[in-house]
Amino acid sequence: MEKLTVRGGRPLGGTVRVSGSKNAALPLIFATVLTESVCVIENVPRIRDVEISLEILSSMGAQVRWEKRGSLAICTENMRLAAPPEHLVCSLRASTYLMGAMLGRFGRAYVQNFGGCNFSPRPIDMHLFAAKALGADLENNDILAPHGLRGAVIAFDKVSVGATVNALLMAVRAEGRTVIENAAAEPHVENLIVFLRSMGAAISRLGSALVVDGSALRGGRAAVVGDMIEGGTYLLSGLATGGAVSVEGCDAVHLSSFLSILRRGGAFVKTEGGRITVSGRLIAPIMLKTAPYPGFPTDLQPQTALIGALHNGAVVTETVFPGRFGYLEALSDMGLSYVRSGSGAYLFPSRLYAGSVMAEDLRGGAALVLAALSAEGESVIYGISAVLRGYENIVEKFSSLGANINF
Ligand code: UD1
Repeated sequence: MEKLTVRGGRPLGGTVRVSGSKNAALPLIFATVLTESVCVIENVPRIRDVEISLEILSSMGAQVRWEKRGSLAICTENMRLAAPPEHLVCSLRASTYLMGAMLGRFGRAYVQNFGGCNFSPRPIDMHLFAAKALGADLENNDILAPHGLRGAVIAFDKVSVGATVNALLMAVRAEGRTVIENAAAEPHVENLIVFLRSMGAAISRLGSALVVDGSALRGGRAAVVGDMIEGGTYLLSGLATGGAVSVEGCDAVHLSSFLSILRRGGAFVKTEGGRITVSGRLIAPIMLKTAPYPGFPTDLQPQTALIGALHNGAVVTETVFPGRFGYLEALSDMGLSYVRSGSGAYLFPSRLYAGSVMAEDLRGGAALVLAALSAEGESVIYGISAVLRGYENIVEKFSSLGANINF
């Protein structure tokens, strides 16, 4: 079983350059299905989820080529209309985006056993609601729009990143105008909009709505935005170990709610010239409540809660995925004291010791890595492939900060 060994207890310091965002890269990769022309995507991280996405497209006839470092050329001209291989689809949550893109291009898509981190129920009713609003019918596991999609108002009753992405992928190829109400505004959604515009799509934002005028699309080009979740994780590694870590390549504005929680806890936060630095000690408990952007990102909840526990404790409310606390049990094997309460948790100030633990999901696993870096002695994190899904060159990057870490 893949594992990571960490000898912790030493302060980390230095600067990490973050990679392109996983959550932004995957929608862009699947958006290439919308056109028969070549698309180029830059700053793509070489992480497992990207490799699986490319394997899915290749298995359906797309041509995929890595050009210079981090740059991908994808041509889906010869892509076949067929259900993609189940074993790939079920290992990747972002394969839901293939559904929207195929429906946009071919007027037909397949509902499959979509995978991804299993920290909470992850329904797709809103994705299907969007497809139906645009005129598609659901027959068993087929979604069909034989005469093409038609623009419509898609009134979401809550904010969903995945459903917004899929609504966009369908609406850009629908006939006429679509209004997506209550649309997500995460940087990765904005990144997709930039890419779709480069393909010729007409998309504008009106308050919390997106207005889309459907059309044929040409090949497009865009760079993947820097990964704010990866950036946040490395910044927290400084606080976990009593060091000071800087990150470059991600936008401090994207991390505003995260950085303000750290400031409120007493950390020293500096943003200057494209570089973010976090240092110092927390003097107050971390109080955080996750919410859609620009709220506190659910993908930084486990890592930030852990840092709270290493200092003065954390009070966490998880409004996006109320069950996203599986990592607490593994941390309790390293000495964490906590209590769960409804969709929240209290993490008490705890001194962690080295241990052997299992990473059950991507961000919970990242919290285990931070815990191992903070604890004196040797820790082993099993199931590390869950973490490699979202962190490019994690060993090299932590080693460059002075960590003793290897596979
Ligand atoms: C979520 C995060 C996103 C992050 C991604 C990867 C939010 C709002 N979304 O996106 O920032 O990058 O995880 O970890 O922070 N829901 C439904 N029905 C649906 C779809 C979603 O009820 O059809 C619910 C979910 O259960 C959840 C909420 O809507 O409670 C938001 O989910 P959604 O944004 O769709 O999740 P992801 O797209 O996975």
